[in-house]
Amino acid sequence: MEKKIAVILGDGIGPEVTNQSLKVLNAIAERFEHHFEYTYGLMGADAIDKTGSPLPDETLAICLESDAILFGAIGDPKYDNDPTAKVRPEQGLLKLRKSLGLFANIRPVATFPSLHHLSPLKSDRLEDVDFVVYRELTGGIYFGEKKVDAAYTEASDLCSYNKSEIERISHHAFKATQQRKKHLTLVDKANVLETSRLWRKVVQEVAKQYPDVQVDYLFVDNAAMQLIVNPKQFDVMLTENMFGDILSDEASVITGSLGMLPSASVGATTALFEPIHGSYPQAAGKDIANPVGSILSTAMLLDHLGLFTEASLVRDAVAWTLESKFVTKDIDPINYYFTSTIGDLVSEYVAGRLPNDVN
Ligand code: IPM
Ligand code: MN
Repeated sequence: MEKKIAVILGDGIGPEVTNQSLKVLNAIAERFEHHFEYTYGLMGADAIDKTGSPLPDETLAICLESDAILFGAIGDPKYDNDPTAKVRPEQGLLKLRKSLGLFANIRPVATFPSLHHLSPLKSDRLEDVDFVVYRELTGGIYFGEKKVDAAYTEASDLCSYNKSEIERISHHAFKATQQRKKHLTLVDKANVLETSRLWRKVVQEVAKQYPDVQVDYLFVDNAAMQLIVNPKQFDVMLTENMFGDILSDEASVITGSLGMLPSASVGATTALFEPIHGSYPQAAGKDIANPVGSILSTAMLLDHLGLFTEASLVRDAVAWTLESKFVTKDIDPINYYFTSTIGDLVSEYVAGRLPNDVN
């Protein structure tokens, strides 16, 4: 199979972790006789430094022509501490999501038994935790009108949603729920927000088309608490853009490390795959970042291309490294392996060619 993959390395640890995913993709290509054509594009602080724009037109064009996009991470502390900066790295990612119509962000959360001890939660709360967050990604407060007065004394961000924006992600989420444990939880703040009441109304209507799915409703403050108290109650969590951003970071640490979690952003055409972690600038260039979030994002990419056997082989390879205690510093600060070593091991496993010392 021939596929075009756009690669955006991005900022901080983005290049290091993405390079491990590329090794894994190359091993898949070799073993299954696929041809992946990579085209590199700039985005984020890296793109601002080199071109002045967080999303150069050329990058958007490369992405539009691709079957899938593999992305590393975005962000640079020099912008975070300058609230008046007009050009910011994150604008690149937001514009890319909007331009490509990537309205559904899918973030699976599953715990690995060998990492239970790293979770801030007690082990008995971790067994059987396996859920997925469906976060709306191109609407809400992220994209509403923004205002600030010249003197920087007052600012506002508008949160708005329309029916079709809610319907389209709801259908994705309900379909996914039917393939899982058939339990969908809508997270909103319908006791306060008009947009949340619209979400509830639309989701109730959509639910009629999926009678086999049990639907629950939770206010976001309660959901934040339930995630800690009893995370195994969730199967599919559907929510709007900003609630999904916050809750998915909270959910990610349940697994033991933010570095573990992958994501897919899908819409009408091409799709984007990225670990949910940020650019972690303190670790950049040290070969210590956890590449698992990126490698598992690559598994989601392979699923998206219809390469299901290949995707599950990548997941098996990751599970094998974890069970064998081949882990990065975030998982084991004493007996740890480098980012590039984990990438090599996963690739060798995928290629069916384990190095002698691990056989
Ligand atoms: C994420 C990130 C982004 C977001 C930032 C970098 C704009 O936190 O993908 O979750 O808020 O969506
Ligand atoms: Mn986030």
